Amino acid sequence: MDRLDKTRLPRHIAIIMDGNGRWARKHSLGRIAGHRKGTESVRSVVEACRRIGIPFLTLYAFSSENRSRPEKEVEALMGLLERYLKSELETMTKNNIRLLAIGETAALPSGVKAVLDETIAKTAGNTAMTLTLALNYGGHDEILHAVRRIVDDARRGIIESRDVTEQRFEDYLHTKGIPDPDLLIRTSGEYRVSNFLLWQMAYTEFYFTETLWPDFREEHLVEAILEYQKRERRFGLTSDQVHKKRS
Ligand code: FPP
Repeated sequence: MDRLDKTRLPRHIAIIMDGNGRWARKHSLGRIAGHRKGTESVRSVVEACRRIGIPFLTLYAFSSENRSRPEKEVEALMGLLERYLKSELETMTKNNIRLLAIGETAALPSGVKAVLDETIAKTAGNTAMTLTLALNYGGHDEILHAVRRIVDDARRGIIESRDVTEQRFEDYLHTKGIPDPDLLIRTSGEYRVSNFLLWQMAYTEFYFTETLWPDFREEHLVEAILEYQKRERRFGLTSDQVHKKRS
């Protein structure tokens, strides 16, 4: 953590937490045990981000495609999520962390939805860090949802086609008010975006690691941030232009 340049921290880290199933197989355990162990990594990474001073952390906890997994696994994941939310309210309050959710959360089981809504409401005034859980989330779904709402607003005369700028479009996304991720981390040696934050990741730096999510801890996070700090972010400009802008 001391090795990090505190003046060049990513403002927003997004993580695709992958490899729970493979971790379980490696340890001759069932898949659910992998997800349970993965919850420990969630706790550890949230705590580390808060300590390092990362203002926004977004975790891909359940994709719209994950809904098609075996019923037992989906149920177990929902149970873990419910328990996590119940157990973390106190820590979130103590650490001044605000919880948000993106995705089709209305379709979550009622118990999970209730505790999610309650945690979001109770942490709404917290200001040190925003933890966003992507639940029943899909990037295509999110963009289509935005387009449908824009069409509805256009019909009602609230918006005209020439007003649909990038900025106005972003107001219709689930991530309204959240800055785009600076750094995306994907664990377990998979090199895909898997329908995560498709609009928002236009200029995000990607970091892939072989580490399976249940093994991922603060030291792995620090490695990812150190790698990010070596990158030159050009946003489509030339290197010379970037250096002139900085000086
Ligand atoms: C991917 O591993 C992981 C998931 C689909 C779920 C992530 C959920 C958690 C880490 C636990 C609960 C979440 C919170 C926020 C408390 P995989 O099952 O696809 O792994 P595999 O590719 O090795 O099979």
